[in-house]
Amino acid sequence: MRDFAKLRSLVLLAVAVSLVGCSSFSQAQKTPGSADGQHWWQSAVFYEVYPRSFADGNGDGIGDLKGIESKLDYLEQLGVDAIWITPCYPSPQVDFGYDVSDYENIDPTYGTLADFDRLVEAAKKHHIRIIMDFVINHTSDRHPWFLDSKSSRTSAHRDWYIWRDGRANRQPPNNWISGFGGSAWKFDPSTGQYYYHYFATAQPDLNWRNPAVENAMFDVTRFWYKHGVSGFRLDAVDLLLEDPKLHDNPILPGKDEMGSPNMLNKYNDKLPENHQVLRRLRSVADESDAVLVGETYTDSASELKEYYGAHNDEIQLPMDFMFCTVDKLSAPAFRKQIALAESTGGWPTYVIGNHDMSRSYVRYGDGKHNDQIAKLMAAMYLTLRGTPIMYYGEEIGMENNDPTRKEDVKDPMGITGWPKYKGRDGERTPMQWNGSANAGFTTGKPWLPVPSSAKEKNVESEWKDPNSILQFYRQLLMLHHRNVALRDGDYVALNQDDPNVLAYLRQYKKDAVLVALNMSGTAQQVSFNLSAEGFTSPKASTILTTLKHAPGDRIDQIALEPFAVYIAQVSP
Ligand code: GLC
Ligand code: CA
Repeated sequence: MRDFAKLRSLVLLAVAVSLVGCSSFSQAQKTPGSADGQHWWQSAVFYEVYPRSFADGNGDGIGDLKGIESKLDYLEQLGVDAIWITPCYPSPQVDFGYDVSDYENIDPTYGTLADFDRLVEAAKKHHIRIIMDFVINHTSDRHPWFLDSKSSRTSAHRDWYIWRDGRANRQPPNNWISGFGGSAWKFDPSTGQYYYHYFATAQPDLNWRNPAVENAMFDVTRFWYKHGVSGFRLDAVDLLLEDPKLHDNPILPGKDEMGSPNMLNKYNDKLPENHQVLRRLRSVADESDAVLVGETYTDSASELKEYYGAHNDEIQLPMDFMFCTVDKLSAPAFRKQIALAESTGGWPTYVIGNHDMSRSYVRYGDGKHNDQIAKLMAAMYLTLRGTPIMYYGEEIGMENNDPTRKEDVKDPMGITGWPKYKGRDGERTPMQWNGSANAGFTTGKPWLPVPSSAKEKNVESEWKDPNSILQFYRQLLMLHHRNVALRDGDYVALNQDDPNVLAYLRQYKKDAVLVALNMSGTAQQVSFNLSAEGFTSPKASTILTTLKHAPGDRIDQIALEPFAVYIAQVSP
């Protein structure tokens, strides 16, 4: 079940001599000797950009496409291969772009279509691909399709949305609840029917049972492929189709943080029919060698597995949000989630944060060792098998800056959920570029406030500091691209009973990398036996660690400081 509010609450630097001094590299260098048949998106690191908050090019306090373009050098040097830009289409901005009123243009706040084309070209020169956000489940209530749909019961677009008569006594058609609080139905007095909206009332759901909707939406993807995008992140893709009979959902005990009764979304979430649409959407993507990334809120390995498609013909990168339900540092809990992702047989897609959940820096931090823990988390998800998706600012240890007064809240979820749920503004604050006022994000007044921690946590100062979170990310990204075992190797769980240290081997033929992560606040002594993996007298050589003194070449006695990261190449 998708539930941001719940997810939120659950939810000697490197000895890598060979890495030092490499400030930039070309795409070709990033994938030397890639295993046969690897797709570009498998060796890529994705980076989510929330355009309102990334960089402001014109001083109006809101980020824009020119701002993004001005930061391509940074993104390339960091080692990012693709940026996913959250919606920048024309929109009334009720849900900050997730309410689209025109799928084939750019909102003037962010620039023009010509700016977009220039961004794609410039990004290409930096070996960076652009992924757009496809808001596939719903449009804005100001979209011309909806305006026509709403105009009369017989309008050409009436059946493009989900209209139904109410029940007796002015009751909505059924008991479905909106993820943004309250009933998922809104009465329209002019035509006397209700329309369905899983999210805000300004976000009516499209009727994907209507082939005209499918055609129009598939054409939208073709439009952007022609403009050079390399794929889409599919927004709210679990919610595409609904039960045509509109059965009531089973009610569960208690209330959610938006104050609505808890509910099992049996009849409007992850219906089997969604997969038919995805297969057809994928065929269109395949014509352009494009990637589909899914906002897939799954509850089990089998649900996640289904998203890849029975013949790998649906979503290439369904995000594994079950991973994010591990809400504290716990070696056994992460081990279990990794095993679950591996058990699907698919190519995993790991994230530790995004614009809908509290920043990983605060979710996992203990308040005292947050920087170390941020490095530990990075070392985990950037060395696992699969494609990682970073969230802007995570690489500098950005923290949440939640509103403290209701009148400051911008997110519609925070407005409804206040004070229990303060919404998502806190994880969407401006990127921290330097220690100046407004963190160098804008010369104007930023649309959301910058936290005081930006004085130390910013790109400029961390770039210079070899011990910073940023430099640690940079080295991890280089390893991720250059190390064959990390890029293409199998995942082999090690020391599976260890309650404190998460350890695994990434093995590609004779190449192997050992990763040991102390998820506890106490020193740990670990010992590895790799004979089952064919290493009779293994020798380790450290490639990246946070340990003050890198251990010798033996793997039968490694001392790990609290929250330590130890990554070593192992030879047989
Ligand atoms: C997705 C987005 C979220 C948005 C919602 C409605 O979950 O990530 O930010 O509010 O869809 O479009
Ligand atoms: Ca701007």
